[in-house]
Amino acid sequence: MSALHPDRCLSFVIGAALAGCGDRPSSAPQEPPAAAQALREFEGSYPVDAKPNGVVRTFDVTAAPAEIPFPGGRTLQVWAYNGQVPGPALRVRLGETLRVNFTNRLPQETTIHWHGVRVPNAMDGVPHATQPPVQPGGTFVYEFTPKDAGTFWFHPHVRSSEQVERGLYGVLIVEDPDSPAYTKDVVWVIDDWLLDENGQIRPQFNTRHDLAHDGRWGNVITVNGRTDEVLRVRPGERVRLRLLNSSNGRVVLPDFAGLDAQLVASDGMYLHEPRNAAGHELAPGNRADLDISFTQSVSGPIGIFDRFYPQRPNHLADVVVEGEPVETPTFPSPARAHVPVWASALDVPEEHTFKLNARSGGPFGIEWTIDDRAFEGHAAEHRAGLTLAQGRFYRLRFVNESARLHPIHLHGMFFRLLARNGTRVDEPFFRDTVLIRGRESIDIGVVPSDAGSWMMHCHILEHAEAGMMTMIDVTHGAPAPHGH
Ligand code: C2O
Ligand code: CU
Ligand code: CU
Repeated sequence: MSALHPDRCLSFVIGAALAGCGDRPSSAPQEPPAAAQALREFEGSYPVDAKPNGVVRTFDVTAAPAEIPFPGGRTLQVWAYNGQVPGPALRVRLGETLRVNFTNRLPQETTIHWHGVRVPNAMDGVPHATQPPVQPGGTFVYEFTPKDAGTFWFHPHVRSSEQVERGLYGVLIVEDPDSPAYTKDVVWVIDDWLLDENGQIRPQFNTRHDLAHDGRWGNVITVNGRTDEVLRVRPGERVRLRLLNSSNGRVVLPDFAGLDAQLVASDGMYLHEPRNAAGHELAPGNRADLDISFTQSVSGPIGIFDRFYPQRPNHLADVVVEGEPVETPTFPSPARAHVPVWASALDVPEEHTFKLNARSGGPFGIEWTIDDRAFEGHAAEHRAGLTLAQGRFYRLRFVNESARLHPIHLHGMFFRLLARNGTRVDEPFFRDTVLIRGRESIDIGVVPSDAGSWMMHCHILEHAEAGMMTMIDVTHGAPAPHGH
């Protein structure tokens, strides 16, 4: 489809050169000055096009029921990619093309969505909208060249509140062309499980309770599928720790107090400069890359706790610093040359206000709505909730009229949080998922870079299944003037 063709003309916005785009002025006359300014600031933030270097990395990924060892000496019946939970960590280098030969051996249809990766629309894994769902016994080839180096993940986009909960998720790491010389590169996939009295995954999904609350919160929290994960380092090591929250509903706030933990990337995208990681929460879907130097020697294990609800901390994992010291590598933390400040972006008239709420009705008794509509049936039949043009700046507002949490996720584009409850926030990095608290409103700024029909939904998967999904269509070519 057309989204496969890179839009060269967008380079006038993002790249330095105007070459080849002489037919479009660099600021359209109808553009409000604040929007033109925001667009200028965005220039050079990230590449529009992938730059394939000709290397293709091929992986075989099969989704199937499996049994895994679980804490307490139990065996847990799961659904897994390649028999493991978390699924395989796929690693490619920026410029390489990822090819995944996917086979579905589940008892139901499925797809793979590449969360946070700016893929061609046809590779986005949204059933009926970007591809037909993969039937039991069926196969599908996912192939794309990532445009950004960073920490991403993949999971099904069919009945995701069940399929992700049963164990279907894995990490996709896109390495920089020259990887920084960390002594270790470690992934922590944080998940929570709701187990029943037999120690198995409670097979009731999308319950009234889950829907009336913040989705399904479990009774066991694991890091990399374990309750006793330990990161062992020697004094002096400098580690890149990649965190992913793959929970259906749980928000985590990992506390690295006492360690020199710097946030270097959010949702796979580097910050302009590192900042202390304290207070950086991970809603379902969020990733955070930390740069941790273990300069002091510490005696005994350091417990890392989730303190999202400070009264009820949860143990996540331990860090042990022991053994012969090593020399700490010195290199500048990886960073993004340019992140727009967007200080006056709140002056840009908002393009749309999304209203988030719930009502009774629908197949589960409660529906979660965006603009009073619950997403149902096939994405292909769903009227887009919003249409935007590629390469323009937009301010979008979300008003949470409910009392529950909604981590809103946009496919196919990154955005920057501008304000909470109308007050500007200084969050100098991009995201693909942002947590909106009960009764809160937020503003985001976004420049869509890829044409296509992109999902937007709450990443509390029970809320999404019960309707809180819509599509944002991003059109090619000359954008229509603002409707204000
Ligand atoms: Cu991880 Cu549609 O999302
Ligand atoms: Cu996604
Ligand atoms: Cu929600």
